[in-house]
Amino acid sequence: MEQVREEQNGPGPAAAYDRIGIGYKQVRRPDPRLGALIRQALGGARTVVNVGAGAGSYEPEDAEVTAVDPSQVMLDQHPGPRKVKAGAEELPFTDGAFDAAMAVLTVHHWPDLHRGLGELRRVSRRQAVFTWDPEHRPELWVVEEYLPEIRELDASRFTPLAEVVEAMDAHTVLPFPIPHDFTDGLQTAYWRRPEAYLDPVVRAASSTFATLPASVVEPAMERLRADLASGAWERRHAHLLGQESVDYGYRLVVAGEA
Ligand SMILES: C[S@@+](CC[C@H](N)C(=O)[O-])C[C@H]1O[C@@H](n2cnc3c(N)ncnc32)[C@H](O)[C@@H]1O
Repeated sequence: MEQVREEQNGPGPAAAYDRIGIGYKQVRRPDPRLGALIRQALGGARTVVNVGAGAGSYEPEDAEVTAVDPSQVMLDQHPGPRKVKAGAEELPFTDGAFDAAMAVLTVHHWPDLHRGLGELRRVSRRQAVFTWDPEHRPELWVVEEYLPEIRELDASRFTPLAEVVEAMDAHTVLPFPIPHDFTDGLQTAYWRRPEAYLDPVVRAASSTFATLPASVVEPAMERLRADLASGAWERRHAHLLGQESVDYGYRLVVAGEA
C-alpha cells in the first residue's frame, strides 16, 4: 500500500516544483550512464533514502528505497511504494536508519543546505550527492550568448562545490561530463542539440528556465532560432559538433563509509 506521510512545509521550493513538476517526467528521463555512476557510489546499499527524489530517477533497483520530497506533484510522479512528504532539513527518520542516502540535482533547492546535508549524514552511513559547481568554466553557450540572466540566478542558488565537499566531509568527487545524447533534460543536456532549447516543454522541465520571466527567455530564444536558421550558431560552435561529451561542472560527491 502506498504510504505518504504529510509534513509541514512552507511554500518556496515545494510550491515551485508543484508548478515545474508537471511534465517533468517526459523530459527528465534518467540516463543510464549517470545511473551506473550513482549505483557504484551507493556501494551495494540495501536500504537507501532518496532525498529530493522527484519522480525517482537514478534509484537503485536492487535496494529498498524510501523517497522523500516536499512537493506533492513530484511525489505523485514517483512510482515507488515508500514515499514521505518532507524537506531535507528535517528528515523524519532515526539516526543511521539507512545504509545510504542519495540526493540528485536537488541540494540547490534546499533553503538550508548545511542543515539538509547534516540530516543526510545523521540518517545514513554513506552519502552520494550529485550537484553542479557554479564556479566551473566553460559555461554553456546558452548562458554566454543568449541568457546571461541564468548565470546570476544559478550563482544565487548553487553552492560552490568546495563548500558542499566540506559540509559533507566527502572523500570522493567524481566528475560527470555531459554526453551529447544525455537523456535527462537538465539545463546543459542539449549542448550539441541546440534546437531543443526552442521547445517550451523542454525549457519548462529545467528550473532555471522555468524561473526566468517569459519576457526575458522568449526574445533570447527567438535570437537562437534566427541564428540556427542562418547557420550562425553552427559556424560559432563547429568545435562542439565533433565532441562526445563536455565537462560543464557536474559532480558526484561521496561521503561516509566506503
Ligand atoms: C531537479 S528535481 C530532482 C529530482 C530527482 N532527484 C531527479 O534527479 O530527477 C529537484 C527536487 O528537489 C525537491 N526539493 C525542493 N526543495 C527541497 C527540500 N527542501 N528538500 C528536499 N527536496 C527538495 C523538488 O521538489 C524536486 O523534486
